[in-house]
Amino acid sequence: MKRFCLYLPLLLLIPFLTKAAPGDVHIAIETRQTALVIRVDKEQTPTIVHLGPKLRNAAEYASIPGNGKRGEDYTGIYNSAYTPAGSRNLLEPAIQVTHADGNPSLDLRYVRHETQNASDGVVLTKVYLKDPQYPFEVTLYYKAYQNEDVIEQWSSIRHTEKKAIVLQKYASANLYIPAQNYYLTHFHGDWANEMNPSEIPLTEGIKILDSKLGTRADLFQPPSFLVSLNQPADEDKGEVIAGTLAWSGNYQLAFEVDPLHNLRIIPGINPYASAYTLAPNTEFTTPAFLFTYSQQGTGGASRSLHRWARKHRIPQGQGNRLTLLNNWEATYFDFNEEKLSTLIKDGKKLGVDLFLLDDGWFGNKYPRNDDHTSLGDWQENAKKLPHGLGYLVKEAESAGIKFGIWLEPEMVSPKSELYEKHPDWVIKLPNRQEYYFRNQLVLDLSNPKVQDFVYEVVNGIMTKNPTLSYIKWDCNAVIYNAYSATNPNQSNLFVDYVQGLYKVVERLRTKYPTLPMMLCSGGGGRVDYGALRYFTEYWPSDNTDGLERVFIQWNYSYFFPSIASCNHVTDWGKQSIKFRTDVAMMGKIGYDIVVSKLTEPELQFSQQALKDYERIKPVIWQGDQFRLASPYTNDIASVLYVSEAKDKAMWFTYLVKNRYKAGSLAPIKLKGLDPDKNYTIQELNVYPGTKSAVNTSTATYSGNYLMTIGFNPQVSTRRESVVLEVNVVK
Ligand code: DGJ
Repeated sequence: MKRFCLYLPLLLLIPFLTKAAPGDVHIAIETRQTALVIRVDKEQTPTIVHLGPKLRNAAEYASIPGNGKRGEDYTGIYNSAYTPAGSRNLLEPAIQVTHADGNPSLDLRYVRHETQNASDGVVLTKVYLKDPQYPFEVTLYYKAYQNEDVIEQWSSIRHTEKKAIVLQKYASANLYIPAQNYYLTHFHGDWANEMNPSEIPLTEGIKILDSKLGTRADLFQPPSFLVSLNQPADEDKGEVIAGTLAWSGNYQLAFEVDPLHNLRIIPGINPYASAYTLAPNTEFTTPAFLFTYSQQGTGGASRSLHRWARKHRIPQGQGNRLTLLNNWEATYFDFNEEKLSTLIKDGKKLGVDLFLLDDGWFGNKYPRNDDHTSLGDWQENAKKLPHGLGYLVKEAESAGIKFGIWLEPEMVSPKSELYEKHPDWVIKLPNRQEYYFRNQLVLDLSNPKVQDFVYEVVNGIMTKNPTLSYIKWDCNAVIYNAYSATNPNQSNLFVDYVQGLYKVVERLRTKYPTLPMMLCSGGGGRVDYGALRYFTEYWPSDNTDGLERVFIQWNYSYFFPSIASCNHVTDWGKQSIKFRTDVAMMGKIGYDIVVSKLTEPELQFSQQALKDYERIKPVIWQGDQFRLASPYTNDIASVLYVSEAKDKAMWFTYLVKNRYKAGSLAPIKLKGLDPDKNYTIQELNVYPGTKSAVNTSTATYSGNYLMTIGFNPQVSTRRESVVLEVNVVK
């Protein structure tokens, strides 16, 4: 009874707290289908009252009853648009600050907002917030990509206090979603085992996904997730939010089901070891959080992110890519000019666009003959390459293909001239024993001198070899013993590192706007939209086993478009070259094999596949992707790419289990075609000497038939991989 009396005044406040009052301001951030609505009450408190389908009449956002709360919110800010810590919050904050005077509290009140057209189809809304007691301001930015249904959100933090303040936490976004149940799909793994999905129901309390690895931050888990509302995620049905943080360093994604059973999502830089000292009059800009809300399940969410990434994020996302032959697994460190010249000619024979020289070409005092030395000494090894890179560029060009090179410019080997000359450029603790990841250490990119060095590594090579046409940028070590010899604020290091890296690649992109660059991190240790602003493509995993890749590529495809996925045919795994080629075609195909060791039919098959790829790649790269049959719940995996005009589709199906009679026993229903058009179906990548089970028919099928009844690609233990080309009848 006593307890009830105590809470009575609060209970009386509930109807007031949860209803729009006259004079409340509503800020609607809308895309073609979605709306995120912020309500500002007369106390100037910004809260989120809606995230979901857009209403036809924006005036009706004011009628949304309350904010989805289902009971007592003691603070009125469970659904804050950016929860400040230390005043009245009871839940996970988005921002936490220690002011110059040592005061640990923050309050953020609405000042004003503005909306402008940032570019065609892109609307930017800025919401200005301020602490009433301190000269401390936060601006929330929301970029709404109308046609792609993607919202990009970030914050900037600024103050004019007398001395520096410390940002203890500084998230990018703070979302609030009411539903009956929440299912989180997150991804985890390790080297050669990236992107394993786990779906879990979220219950009251907090679930944190994070990385503390510094560089190569995604190695254990990437900053990308799916949240399905009310039911477990389905490919075609239901409400799904796909979110991803555009940051290549330590991140934290917090999912909190609050006491009212509503979901709060707070993504941002990981506050771990990163209390950030911010001087007066300087601005801290958080990385962007990107999300899309879909009512067509995970499939709809992926297609929106793919369209957005191709159009707005990845360099030349709607342009071309080069097929290539890489020498890494063909030679490892053991090569010379003669060997490489032969491989280059083999690349031409195979039919690729470019030869990529991988690790091992540099270092003289300490030659790079294994992975223990030489990182940092980016001069051609005189023994292996007596005539330098320029000679190889010419060799490739006279063979009729382009030439590219592997670099790992952020790293240093303990045994290197660079380390001897600049020990203070290396991230390491002065009083602890060095600890290595792949026998190497990380350069301190928070130091502008190191940034200049790294820039010059690439710029120098490009200046000397202006027709060099491709960079593979690797990053194999994490950060241990985080300490900078020059950064005055040690706990700024993790953040300053990533910002330093972005400064370098930004400079490179400005000078070389069209240079293709592969984002590699010993596999997929760094696949995020922060880095993919600068890189044209990424390396999903060192694991190129065809079967494994079906799964790995399937999972990346929730967030990243196929044009950016570098898929190489190698000798990993037990699958046939046909299987491996078919899988590699679902993205940007490449090779890492000894061409001269291919049998005649294997070579013939690969040459034909590359020729056909030229014709079909626009559909795979630019088309809408439909995941038709999941390898997790079927004997098969099936993926379809449909052109925007719905006049062509490429369809890939693989056997992923080997039980007796396993295969595509029934027709698979296609998606995304035009029901009123008629289509032919032809099999591609038919191995020499075998007959297609499909190409014997000249039948045509309506889109309506293919999407209602389906078609059986006849995948079985005798046909483990089938590629079908679906063409409209003109
Ligand atoms: C790791 C990459 O993932 C590989 O492809 C290869 O480039 C090696 N590094 C070279 O050291």
